[in-house]
Amino acid sequence: MLRATDIAHAVLRQVIGLGDWVVDATVGNGHDTALLAALVGPEGRVFGCDIQAVAVAAASARLRGLAQVELVQAGHELMAAWLPTEACGRLAAVVFNLGYLPGGDKTVMTHTETTLVAVRQALDALRVGGVVTVVLYPGHVGGEAEAEAVQAFARALPATFAATHMTRANAVRPAPELLMIERRG
Ligand SMILES: C[S@@+](CC[C@H](N)C(=O)[O-])C[C@H]1O[C@@H](n2cnc3c(N)ncnc32)[C@H](O)[C@@H]1O
Repeated sequence: MLRATDIAHAVLRQVIGLGDWVVDATVGNGHDTALLAALVGPEGRVFGCDIQAVAVAAASARLRGLAQVELVQAGHELMAAWLPTEACGRLAAVVFNLGYLPGGDKTVMTHTETTLVAVRQALDALRVGGVVTVVLYPGHVGGEAEAEAVQAFARALPATFAATHMTRANAVRPAPELLMIERRG
């Protein structure tokens, strides 16, 4: 079965090229960061953040010091502050995988208010043709309200962005969903 994260990865493979600059806004165990590092290659740059030290440590171990990856323990809502100023307007992708760290503390999770601030900052930093991907978990406690808020935000975007929402049509319980927002102009 195709998961929302698999579809996000397929989109990222299409959009990101060697030498690109990208952001992983929810590094976690570093699976998404590893894909981004492979796609941009040694000439590109991957900026990643997570609020948890344990996540940054796990991802660092997975990435084994790849020079194109720079991780910070910080909130994605502060992205505009910790991203280098040269990154603004040149990002090919910003990746969000919301919720909590798998295998970690489930009380530490993303929150609607900070997620919306971060997605707005991510859109502002995209280049034309760049994409923000957001994997949403409406089945998690608090995840339904967060997913609805992010979708409502996307629905209200101007035509300089193209937002696409993918959801499983016949899910018995709420299944993970994917929101993709492309900068068109
Ligand atoms: C579903 S996990 C991410 C999985 C990860 N992308 C991977 O490939 O393993 C969500 C992560 O978001 C992090 N997180 C929660 N709030 C955050 C915030 N405000 N800024 C950055 N990361 C946050 C959590 O600590 C958790 O590690």
